[in-house]
Amino acid sequence: MSPNRRRPLVGGNWKMHFLREDATNFCGAFLAGGALPADVVLFPSFPLLPTVAEALEGTDVGCGGQDLHPEDKGAHTGDVSGPQLVDAGCSWVLCGHSERRHDHGESDELVRQKAVAALRYGLTPLICVGETQAERQAERTFEVLERQLRAALSEGPATFTLAYEPVWAIGTGETATPEIAQEAHRFLRDRLTEMLGEAAAQAKRILYGGSVNPQNADELISKPDLDGFLVGGASLDPEKFLAIIRSCGSDS
Ligand code: PGA
Repeated sequence: MSPNRRRPLVGGNWKMHFLREDATNFCGAFLAGGALPADVVLFPSFPLLPTVAEALEGTDVGCGGQDLHPEDKGAHTGDVSGPQLVDAGCSWVLCGHSERRHDHGESDELVRQKAVAALRYGLTPLICVGETQAERQAERTFEVLERQLRAALSEGPATFTLAYEPVWAIGTGETATPEIAQEAHRFLRDRLTEMLGEAAAQAKRILYGGSVNPQNADELISKPDLDGFLVGGASLDPEKFLAIIRSCGSDS
């Protein structure tokens, strides 16, 4: 790894998978993998959080929620608050994952409110942005990325991590080519430079997500503006997830 490279970060987004026993087994196998060349965070579904947080206690592996409500408490059936995530052992939270934006109609403004709420409790928001297939075909990718980014950060959180997740690549097996991913990451970093200044933009980690696997991770991470991954399907298999994380240590 070149000396001035940002330390990579890899998130495992388990989505609505696993029961407690699967989660315990995963953590056992994963932690046996030893020292890793990247920071790692697991994002289990809510009922698994205490199990996973306990299994990860005393390790460097972080734990995060997949969503949170912008308010701290109240009559919001089915939602989870920032304090509840912290109480369950989280230090991270996903904000604006495309499955939330599409399945639950989350707006850019709601994503901003969630990211701000996360920070109130010391949770680091991992803000996800990405264009759909139709938006890419209509050559609207940059417009969509800029809109999502600026909305999330307008009066937004000072501390955050960004993930570029092209919707057409999520769970489809169709990964962005390293060139397409790099172009989007570069675009996002340039916008961050405008918004935050050069030093802060250079320090930000921008993760790529969308059908990452042990076969394509090496080539993707070789691109200068890719600082790690947000992994869905392949994060359910400890060996595949470890292989992806190890690819972040290969000098490129
Ligand atoms: P995938 O999911 O790796 O299964 O494509 C990525 C994500 O949704 O974060």
